[in-house]
Amino acid sequence: MTEVEAIRARHSVRAYLPKPIEPKKAEKLEAFLETCNRESGLHLQLLRDAGGTFDRLLSKAMGLNSAPSVIACVGPDGADLEERIGYYGEKAVLYAQQLGLNTCWAGTFQARNVPAVIQSGERLVIVIAIGYGATQGKAHRSKTIEEVTNVQGEMPQWFRKGVELALLAPTAINQQKFRFCLDAEGKVTVLDQKGPFSKVDLGIVKCHFEIGRREV
Ligand SMILES: Cc1cc2nc3c(=O)[nH]c(=O)nc-3n(C[C@H](O)[C@H](O)[C@H](O)COP(=O)(O)O)c2cc1C
Repeated sequence: MTEVEAIRARHSVRAYLPKPIEPKKAEKLEAFLETCNRESGLHLQLLRDAGGTFDRLLSKAMGLNSAPSVIACVGPDGADLEERIGYYGEKAVLYAQQLGLNTCWAGTFQARNVPAVIQSGERLVIVIAIGYGATQGKAHRSKTIEEVTNVQGEMPQWFRKGVELALLAPTAINQQKFRFCLDAEGKVTVLDQKGPFSKVDLGIVKCHFEIGRREV
């Protein structure tokens, strides 16, 4: 499965089978996170046992407490932490999809119950539920390309493809509060239109956009 295929196959899954991730697969995921951490300076961690991460009424109501494992998105506190978490966390989400696993980003969780290592100066921003889904989820409602760009009508193929894949990305409460702007020199800027966790969303959609742009 290519990254683009993983983007098309991925949907948030909130109901999981009571089946742990096999040790071999978990090791692959850990190695992938290690590579991301080396590149980014983040401290992403696979917690094979999700523990009490979703011990919260809201998480239970959503079904997330059925997830056997969790990726704790931790990193050194700073202005761009959330966006970096979004970018590298989404790389891990797509890699998990390629391994046949399902995921759901979750801003709602019980922070004090997350069995992650958080060093001095670091912050736990968000978690990602991970495991074998009881279903594969379903496609979300989406804004149109025109609604999230500054270009009307004709646009370069690479830009259109990037935005198309960005629209398939997960965003908090499916808000899609981002805007891709293309200037006359072909430079792209992505604007945060502000909402809950929209800085994390920004990193996630940049990850998808780059994959689309590379494709063309
Ligand atoms: C930053 C972020 C936080 C999220 N938090 C939650 C959450 O707390 N609970 C939940 O059920 N889904 C959560 N989601 C999943 C979104 O609801 C989901 O991505 C969106 O509805 C789009 O659907 P899709 O992921 O299936 O494409 C979150 C997603 C993101 C990106």
